[in-house]
Amino acid sequence: CLKLLWTKKPNSLSLSSLLWEVLLILMLSYFMPCFLGLILYMKVLEIKDKARKLNMEPLRSNLSKYYIMSQLEVCKGKNIFLLSLIFSSPGNRTRRDLIRKTWGNMTSVQGHPILTLFALGMPIMATTQQEIDKESYKNNDIIEGIFLDSAENQTLKIITMTQWAVTFCPNALFILKVDEDMFVNPLSLVNYLLNLKEHLEDIYVGRVIHQDMPNRDPTSQEFVPLIEYPEKYYPDYCSGEAFIMSQDVARMMYIVFKEVPIMVPADVFVGIC
Ligand SMILES: *[C@@H]1O[C@H](CO)[C@@H](O)[C@H](O)[C@H]1NC(C)=O
Ligand SMILES: *[C@@H]1O[C@H](CO)[C@@H](O)[C@H](O)[C@H]1NC(C)=O
Ligand SMILES: *[C@@H]1O[C@H](CO)[C@@H](O)[C@H](O)[C@H]1NC(C)=O
Ligand SMILES: *[C@@H]1O[C@H](CO)[C@@H](O)[C@H](O)[C@H]1NC(C)=O
Repeated sequence: CLKLLWTKKPNSLSLSSLLWEVLLILMLSYFMPCFLGLILYMKVLEIKDKARKLNMEPLRSNLSKYYIMSQLEVCKGKNIFLLSLIFSSPGNRTRRDLIRKTWGNMTSVQGHPILTLFALGMPIMATTQQEIDKESYKNNDIIEGIFLDSAENQTLKIITMTQWAVTFCPNALFILKVDEDMFVNPLSLVNYLLNLKEHLEDIYVGRVIHQDMPNRDPTSQEFVPLIEYPEKYYPDYCSGEAFIMSQDVARMMYIVFKEVPIMVPADVFVGIC
């Protein structure tokens, strides 16, 4: 978004804009590690300010527009240390059950509460939906957004689930987005986060992808048109299989969603933010 916000500014060739540009390049190269610490820059401050004042009440009152299942109560009044949102396909119940029995089973690590939920979109078939209804009734751990759960809709899925997290789990300190085929060790993860004592804000960590290029092959399913994303490289981003962001980053991300091209792959999308 930094780049994006930058290019939206009028291109006057004044000294100050040149200075800004140099500063921006310096900052971009300095912050290359995945702590996309959504930097000083005035626009960012503005976003931070908006994020602090974010009002999710309107969303709460028309919830049924966005979610089929929203687990309103799971976070209420609790101070969650780590919220894990496992991105799962509607039809993959066996995978979910496996996670429930293994690493998803933990509710706290060293006294730090953790909460594990499954993030789904809608299935194509109504019978699958009935199965999910039963599964959700039994486990109370499914969030289902109102959109078709397809490969093309994964960015929409991230948006919908981030929206859920900032709306219904504002007390969760950290949010882990992880795919259902990953195995997470909550113990070491929580320990890692506890050791980040100095920066409990502005956290966005994961495996860094460096200098990835947009797919410009129009026949490909992952094609990204120049209009959507004109730069040669993507900014560094965290691989989408698993990454962690702090609550404040999630809120900022939610604010800037509308300003980022939505056609890029989902994990890149988060990285651009
Ligand atoms: C949500 O509901 C409120 C009324 O509580 C309404 O004013 C608002 O337009 C609705 N927003 C959306 C996005 O539907
Ligand atoms: C999970 O769902 C995806 C997409 O529907 C499918 O390709 C994959 O085979 C499923 N995995 C399992 C273990 O069911
Ligand atoms: C974890 O799994 C065991 C069975 O393997 C079960 O008895 C226990 O209740 C589970 N814990 C939680 C918190 O769900
Ligand atoms: C994405 O979800 C929307 C809303 O359900 C749906 O209309 C659309 O067809 C989906 N897109 C794809 C490519 O699956």
